[in-house]
Amino acid sequence: MGIRSFLPGSLGFGTAPLGNMYRAIPDDEAAATVAAAWDAGTRYFDTAPFYGAGLAEIRLGEALADRPRDEFALSTKVGRLILDETEDPSARDLGEKGGLFEHGRPNKIVYDYSADGARRSIADSLKRLKTDRIDIVWVHDVSPDFWGDEWLAAFDSARTGAFRVLQQLRDEGVIKGWGLGVNRVEPLEVTLDLDEPRPDAFLLAGRYTLLDHEHALQRLFPAAQEQGVDIVVGGPYSSGILAGGTHFEYQKAPASIVAKVERLRALAEQFGITIKAAALQFSLAHPVTAAVIPGASRPSRIAEDVAALSETVPAAFWTALREEKLIAPDAPVPTD
Ligand SMILES: NC(=O)c1ccc[n+]([C@@H]2O[C@H](COP(=O)([O-])OP(=O)(O)OC[C@H]3O[C@@H](n4cnc5c(N)ncnc54)[C@H](OP(=O)(O)O)[C@@H]3O)[C@@H](O)[C@H]2O)c1
Repeated sequence: MGIRSFLPGSLGFGTAPLGNMYRAIPDDEAAATVAAAWDAGTRYFDTAPFYGAGLAEIRLGEALADRPRDEFALSTKVGRLILDETEDPSARDLGEKGGLFEHGRPNKIVYDYSADGARRSIADSLKRLKTDRIDIVWVHDVSPDFWGDEWLAAFDSARTGAFRVLQQLRDEGVIKGWGLGVNRVEPLEVTLDLDEPRPDAFLLAGRYTLLDHEHALQRLFPAAQEQGVDIVVGGPYSSGILAGGTHFEYQKAPASIVAKVERLRALAEQFGITIKAAALQFSLAHPVTAAVIPGASRPSRIAEDVAALSETVPAAFWTALREEKLIAPDAPVPTD
């Protein structure tokens, strides 16, 4: 159980932006971003078929093709198959996340949480990633933000399909770990309540950030810790707003969030630190967090991320965040 034994380092790289998440990124810029991550020492890369309908996997596979495979860890996801048939990417129904990846490939995306679907998805990902193995496989977005009220039915099909296949592949040593990759806490809480199957870790995006962590902190994180299930924190910048971008939850940030980020930024400036340092170090401070995986589509972001992790953040900054009720009083901070 757990993924720390094989995860190379606590700073990984999330490739959702490389699927043309918000804009059409030139291939050479995408390649340079992965190269910058590699040169900075990053050895854990997360991707998914969903990111640009295969585009992020293809770009990542190309960028890592000449790197020694034993030196890095890869995670990708199952739950959506990418077909050869095409569709209008801007017309996809993505629930709350409409418009995402409309600049990606036009290949048709279909949900499939079945056992056969999971096996086929992994086979397709191996081809796009140009590799013979994947270290961690996450079951993707079996969650209310994509499924609304029907999420429990989708979850049940994953529970009896993809979950069992991934557990079997893990037990056979074909993959090293598996879990769910979601933007919501609820599917992870339900999974931890099951007797079987048993995941190794969860990728939880956007729910353990400076802007949003209370729910995860109350029940999910203690339960995961007790069961030896690690957390990989995705979306540590809440999809961009915490790093100087304009997105929150993958949409234009509302005024209330912009105002809260301004308060955080003002405090960070007062203590002479960057808001990126505060965001990344906060997400990593909880003992159940095994890694944090910020995303980026420009090479220059990588050096910022690496620098943010080594910045010295004064204990008084965290105290001020608590005093100003900007973080939960019981949220662990690095100096605890
Ligand atoms: N359901 C799931 O399993 C799930 C869901 C969400 C995320 N994830 C994983 O978590 C990873 C990280 O999440 P994320 O990429 O969605 O969001 P994120 O890491 O919270 O934020 C990434 C965004 O921050 C922006 N950014 C970074 N530095 C910046 C700066 N100095 N100024 C302005 N903007 C800046 C980047 O912009 P640029 O693009 O311009 O560099 C990028 O678009 C994903 O890539 C994915 O691997 C998984």
